Amino acid sequence: MPEIKQGVIFDLDGVIVDSAVFHYRAWKKLADELGISFNEQANEKLRGIPRRESLLALMGFNPGEDKILEYMDRKNTYYLEMVETIKTGDMLPGVDNLLVELKSGGFKLALASSSKNARLVLGKLGITTVFDAIVDGNETTKGKPDPELFLKAAHELGVLPSSCLVVEDAESGIAAGIAAGMHTIGVGNPQALARAECIVSRTAQIDSAMVIKVLSGDSHSGSDAG
Ligand code: G1P
Ligand code: MG
Repeated sequence: MPEIKQGVIFDLDGVIVDSAVFHYRAWKKLADELGISFNEQANEKLRGIPRRESLLALMGFNPGEDKILEYMDRKNTYYLEMVETIKTGDMLPGVDNLLVELKSGGFKLALASSSKNARLVLGKLGITTVFDAIVDGNETTKGKPDPELFLKAAHELGVLPSSCLVVEDAESGIAAGIAAGMHTIGVGNPQALARAECIVSRTAQIDSAMVIKVLSGDSHSGSDAG
């Protein structure tokens, strides 16, 4: 068990569950309807960004408040249809084992997501009670890359930011973790996640030994992606 209390703060979409692809498909459907060009590369910029900022980035201009509300609602309806397909235990490979391993290792666990649907998704997966703290887009005013979500999570865990490790698939999430003064592991695209202390291609590659190493500040040697 760590001598000083340490925390691991997980992002949800794209780290715990494959819902980042649902967000992409929902944004893509809206973009197609609006005649706006949008692809997976453009979607990288939306990862981790709250709904309103995502819409404005996708559109490239402000269409006015009424349209903003209508389009956000439309995208969310498409997203929720896909979330309906999530079943208990549908986490990405390795997530279950990792959460059990970290918990038994004495780490405090938090979930921090810009999404307002985070609790719904956690409930569908059946893992809400695994986390000692959950912070989402409903209870924060600023989304990633602002550090607010992570700092709130650390506060609720009762762990110093410098003793927290953030696990993120978004460039905005790694930026938020760094701004919060936390350690970072990036999951996915090495170019987008270049600022992370350690990069893996899948959540399944993370284990408690890696978490301990990154938290000790001994992991600036580069990427583990492959
Ligand atoms: C929001 C955004 C989405 C972003 C996601 C990150 O979710 O819509 O673009 O990728 O957060 O977790 P929402 O509140 O719409 O579920
Ligand atoms: Mg994510």
